[in-house]
Amino acid sequence: MQQGADIQQRIARISAHLNPPTNHFQVEGASSLLRDVCRAKGGSPGFKVAILGAAGGIGQPLALLMKTNPLVSVLHLYDVVNTPGVTSDISHMDTSAVVRGFMGQNQLEDALTGMDLVIIPAGVPRKPGMTRDDLFNINAGIVKTLSEGIAKRCPKAIVNVISNPVNSTVPIAAEVFKKAGTYDPKRLLGVTMLDVVRANTFVAEVLGLDPREVNVPVVGGHAGVTILPLLSQVQPACSFTQEETEYLTSRIQNGGTEVVEAKAGAGSATLSMAYAAVKFADACLRGLRGDAGVVECAFVSSQVTELPFFASRVRLGRNGVEEIYTLGPLNEYERVGLEKAKKELAGSIDKGVAFVRK
Ligand SMILES: NC(=O)c1ccc[n+]([C@@H]2O[C@H](COP(=O)([O-])OP(=O)(O)OC[C@H]3O[C@@H](n4cnc5c(N)ncnc54)[C@H](O)[C@@H]3O)[C@@H](O)[C@H]2O)c1
Repeated sequence: MQQGADIQQRIARISAHLNPPTNHFQVEGASSLLRDVCRAKGGSPGFKVAILGAAGGIGQPLALLMKTNPLVSVLHLYDVVNTPGVTSDISHMDTSAVVRGFMGQNQLEDALTGMDLVIIPAGVPRKPGMTRDDLFNINAGIVKTLSEGIAKRCPKAIVNVISNPVNSTVPIAAEVFKKAGTYDPKRLLGVTMLDVVRANTFVAEVLGLDPREVNVPVVGGHAGVTILPLLSQVQPACSFTQEETEYLTSRIQNGGTEVVEAKAGAGSATLSMAYAAVKFADACLRGLRGDAGVVECAFVSSQVTELPFFASRVRLGRNGVEEIYTLGPLNEYERVGLEKAKKELAGSIDKGVAFVRK
């Protein structure tokens, strides 16, 4: 009899990725998410991560890469379409993270319950001729709804916002969390890592170095002139002519548009974005684990400028953002760029705040 019950339980675990046990989920430290229920495949303890928009162009490769991350023990894939297929596919990978799929608004809260990290690539991408701001009307509503779910079911999670326009969607999430009384500015981060990844790549090409050895701080925001690569602070130390500086700055600022045009209507950056999102999520998880010296750029609540949000170099730790670094000495070209960036950023931030307060 006991043996029969064990077998039933084992079968239930094997099929759990498509039939998550919703009834016994609880908020925060959910007992149902403890090892015996979720960690069907064993492996070392890790973090619980949810991807919202997991069936999309970014979501799918992002889910694939997060499934290979040894710091992840539970991976929840949520979307409004196609999650069963993506979940079934990814769940066959022989890595230790247990994958569960959730589809549609009525499963959002179950997808979020007890998560340590929530990554949001949900929304529509750009088509040629569109700016990131043109996406505002659709994506603002999506990010608002998802943030309401987070406030309810995993208010202490670190949140990585990818959905554009990041310069407005991060303030939207902040306003939702403030309304719910759960806002912790250290835990809300807009993902600008793709700008850094591009900057590292393009600068390494110019210098003839391995991109993995190059570190370019990119500050400001994540759209056009708000993307401000600080080429005077590149590691390893180097210098550029004015012509090189202008070329590199423009290529980094327009990297997204370069991909949108090359894809000719089929969307925006997805593969390099998934890589960048995973690089950033991994840094957040290493911070949560307590690793020292985890420093990346992100769009966060900040007092580095007079604006309420600004992308800066931040140190990540057990509570999310533990330190925000000042901009350091800027050259004249960067100072002019900073003023332009701040002007545009102010409008985008206000637009996000107004969307929730209206
Ligand atoms: N931060 C960055 O650097 C960066 C870079 C590239 C793209 N993006 C942005 O990422 C977003 C996604 O891009 P993509 O190429 O993956 O788009 P996509 O259309 O391929 O995928 C988006 C996914 O979101 C899902 N979705 C829509 N509404 C949803 C909802 N309410 N809840 C959950 N999921 C929902 C869709 O079903 C789809 O699967 C876009 O806003 C894009 O502009 C950001």
